[in-house]
Amino acid sequence: MRSLIDILDFSVEEINELIDTANDIIAHPDAYADCCKRKKIATLFFEPSTRTRLSFEAAMLELGGSVLGFSEAQSSSAAKGESISDTAKTISCYADIIAMRHPKEGAPLVAARAASIPVINAGDGGHNHPTQTLADLLTISREKGEIKNFTIGFCGDLKFGRTVHSLISALSRYEGIRVVLISPEELKLPGYIKTDVLEKKGIPYTQTTDLEAVMPELDVLYMTRVQRERFFNEEDYLRLKDSYILTPQKLLGAKRDLSIMHPLPRVNEISVAIDEDPRACYFKQVLNGKYIRMALILKLLKEAGRL
Ligand code: CP
Repeated sequence: MRSLIDILDFSVEEINELIDTANDIIAHPDAYADCCKRKKIATLFFEPSTRTRLSFEAAMLELGGSVLGFSEAQSSSAAKGESISDTAKTISCYADIIAMRHPKEGAPLVAARAASIPVINAGDGGHNHPTQTLADLLTISREKGEIKNFTIGFCGDLKFGRTVHSLISALSRYEGIRVVLISPEELKLPGYIKTDVLEKKGIPYTQTTDLEAVMPELDVLYMTRVQRERFFNEEDYLRLKDSYILTPQKLLGAKRDLSIMHPLPRVNEISVAIDEDPRACYFKQVLNGKYIRMALILKLLKEAGRL
């Protein structure tokens, strides 16, 4: 059974096909309105979410299907000690496809091994977030015209930022990508991603703590939130949370065609004054997330023989 747990589960060709489908959905939404009639997605969210859960639900509704699920562990039988595997087997009796978010790394993989329907990783702890990556890639392709030959700066919490980890993995397979890692010392990208992804794939990268110094080099700036929920103590979080706050002043040295991205939610890291800047793409990412999830649901249901 085909699932999406890690962005590398899909080839570049498959990702490009998803982007093409999403673009076609954007251009011809009515043509897709009944594609998933009588199909159901179960959204199993053991951790808070606004965009990912509701975009999966909106995606299935816009394909003519239905949704069921829960938005917190406490309202499911996980609160009584039910295992991920038993939950996945149970939901396989009710739905055609599962989108799961869980605070534990690897939980969606465990679910995929037990389920008899496709499982989509909607974010697992500080590990991966492949559908955010699909939304990011669709956004980059729409903003830049193609996914190659650009310098991308990742700024903020690169240690726990699962969206960063997944997007770096994905971009390592495209041509001419250069990466600038901007973070406080304590929140640097994990060493295994530098060695196993960037160095292994020969992606040029630099590391710095100074956002303004590297701003003129960037074609894409991917801001991230310092994630309170991943810290072991409040003191460290409070010390690091405002390490980077993007303001109009800090963009003075930026390229005119810079794309400013953020997976959201934001707290303080992008000033609201930037929302009106034509280079701000973060709410476009939100909308693109719905369209690429529509394309993903179609792909996985077709491959599972359910469409
Ligand atoms: N980008 C993202 O995963 O947002 P949510 O946590 O609101 O789903």
